[in-house]
Amino acid sequence: MRTQVGIIGGGPSGLLLSQLLHLRGIETVLLEKHSRDYVLGRIRAGVLEHGFAELMREAQVAERMEREGQVHEGFFIAHDGVRDRVDLHALTGGKSVIVYGQTELTRDLYEARDRLGGRVIHNAEDVTPHDIATQRPYLTYRLGRQAARIDCDFVVGCDGFHGVSRQSIPPEHLQVFERTYPFGWLGVLSRTPPVSPELIYATHERGFALCSLRSSTLSRYYIQVPLSDTVEAWSDEEFFQELRCRLPEDVARAMIIGPSIEKSIAPLRSFVAEPMSFGRLFLAGDAAHIVPPTGARGLNTAASDIYYLYHALLDHYLNGDDRGLEGYSQRALARVWKGQRFSWWMTMLLHRFPDNTPYEQRLQRTELAYLLSSQQALASLAENYVGLPFA
Ligand code: APR
Ligand code: PHB
Repeated sequence: MRTQVGIIGGGPSGLLLSQLLHLRGIETVLLEKHSRDYVLGRIRAGVLEHGFAELMREAQVAERMEREGQVHEGFFIAHDGVRDRVDLHALTGGKSVIVYGQTELTRDLYEARDRLGGRVIHNAEDVTPHDIATQRPYLTYRLGRQAARIDCDFVVGCDGFHGVSRQSIPPEHLQVFERTYPFGWLGVLSRTPPVSPELIYATHERGFALCSLRSSTLSRYYIQVPLSDTVEAWSDEEFFQELRCRLPEDVARAMIIGPSIEKSIAPLRSFVAEPMSFGRLFLAGDAAHIVPPTGARGLNTAASDIYYLYHALLDHYLNGDDRGLEGYSQRALARVWKGQRFSWWMTMLLHRFPDNTPYEQRLQRTELAYLLSSQQALASLAENYVGLPFA
């Protein structure tokens, strides 16, 4: 088989890129390791910035997002038994975010690919990029016992943190920057009305907590837990008891609890691989970088990679101009690092670090007090949360 752009990974990054390119007449084949049901069974975050929503519109997949997604003009920071509202709208001159689950958005993208007859191959095993340093890269994979090969002009690795693309770059050409945190987030999805129409990020001496939502009947809650904890060790009752304990009393009292329909622990990690391209292989999204979920940047940073890569590929195919492809890594990384900085900062601000000295604890409290007392500091938080420009 032959195509123009071979895409590895059928998460939001790979699907969005294949959909955008298809609409401009550029052929793609997308190889996904898992079944569609498996991909759509994963519960991920769901705060979309303006730039992401714009890209969904350009990809002609925004209809349900516009209908069912909720526009949020602010969120709360809870601390010391009270809640302070961060007015995103006022602080950014009218900007907001859309709360719409990544799972739903991925479903919309798959349906759009189907409608256009996009080539999406599920259960592709042992996907391997070859000859990426040459002008004629190709991909091999297996479907059951059947081996297959796709020749392409370019390979795009959208296969997430554990994918094969990044690993196919010779290690001497790759520099990795990483930070791990001594805790994870235990998340619970429950079919209950959310305790607050806007997100509540809570900091407490027992640890961080987050009240989020997917719809008016579906809540998503998180608490910070030690890395040694397991999902089995937390009953629903214990989870909600701990969550309530970390929230202001009025919020805790108002919370309606119900059985969890999903419960998982995600360790927090910051990670960047540089450069984001090698020869004719380009990395995008979680394949190249990971952020802790605190600033809701993961999906949104993936979107800016796709934006840059999409335009670079358009320039190549429609105008014979390769400057976008040559500059892709540098351009994408400039914004990636701003997302890293913001996610790291918000994580450091709101979590409990068991090894912090009393001095560091005072500094952390002062950082929050300063933030909440300064319009300039709040404006900086808001500007990053709604998404920095792609330019
Ligand atoms: N071959 C083919 N597909 C693979 C391989 C492989 N070797 N390894 C992984 N994949 C697939 C995974 O099954 C997954 O469906 O690649 C996809 C990667 O999707 P995501 O992990 O969702 O990554 P991405 O599309 O970049 O999405 C951005 O932002 O909010 C964050 O982590 C969150 O997933 C989100 C990400
Ligand atoms: C979520 O709803 O899952 C969510 C929201 C905001 C975050 C992280 C996760 O910062």
